Amino acid sequence: MFEKNKILEKNRSSRRAFIKGVIASGTAVSSSGYIFGSLAGCSPDQSVLGSVERLVSLNVNGQTRRVDVLPNETLAMTLRYKLGLTGTKLGCDRGECGACTLLVDGVPNYSCSTLTHSVRDKQVTSIEGLQGPNGELHPVQQAMIDELGPQCGFCTPGQIMSAVALLESNPNPSRDEARQAMSGNLCRCGAYDHYLNSVMKAAERS
Ligand code: FES
Ligand code: FES
Repeated sequence: MFEKNKILEKNRSSRRAFIKGVIASGTAVSSSGYIFGSLAGCSPDQSVLGSVERLVSLNVNGQTRRVDVLPNETLAMTLRYKLGLTGTKLGCDRGECGACTLLVDGVPNYSCSTLTHSVRDKQVTSIEGLQGPNGELHPVQQAMIDELGPQCGFCTPGQIMSAVALLESNPNPSRDEARQAMSGNLCRCGAYDHYLNSVMKAAERS
């Protein structure tokens, strides 16, 4: 019995370490092959579509980033494949799953369905922008670790961004309000209750 408890505790610790890695920057899950497939699929003509200025300044996580943006490029593509911010995940790439959620002027947005040119005068916050000045985790991230929120972790950055937006606008939500606010984020692993527990814990602590 004692031996079994030791094994269980060891498993929980290594799972917590895994979750911590996912939550800090979303780097445990990567789809780097996606970009090469997607960009390789662009026709040469797409680089000259439209007449908007392509070299733009974006405010991302409090920093000004200069980047060359195609007229039809989505924010998810710009962040992941031009700015190296791979914490934002791409799941469906068609506005259905919420994996790509980030904040535009504090409001949750599906970055796979947001044109980068449309956020030129706005503040974009991705999962990488949540950390404190000394690298400390956001309270929502810490609560996700403490509650062992994610399973595979792929949807986690999007879930966290929605939860952060909720607690900014409503620091003391009911469980139903939290469920409603998180309803745009699907989880193929079905970890919904764990995520809700995490949001409620973060609210309790704030
Ligand atoms: S990847 Fe954007 S909603 Fe699914
Ligand atoms: S934790 Fe696996 S998809 Fe949500």
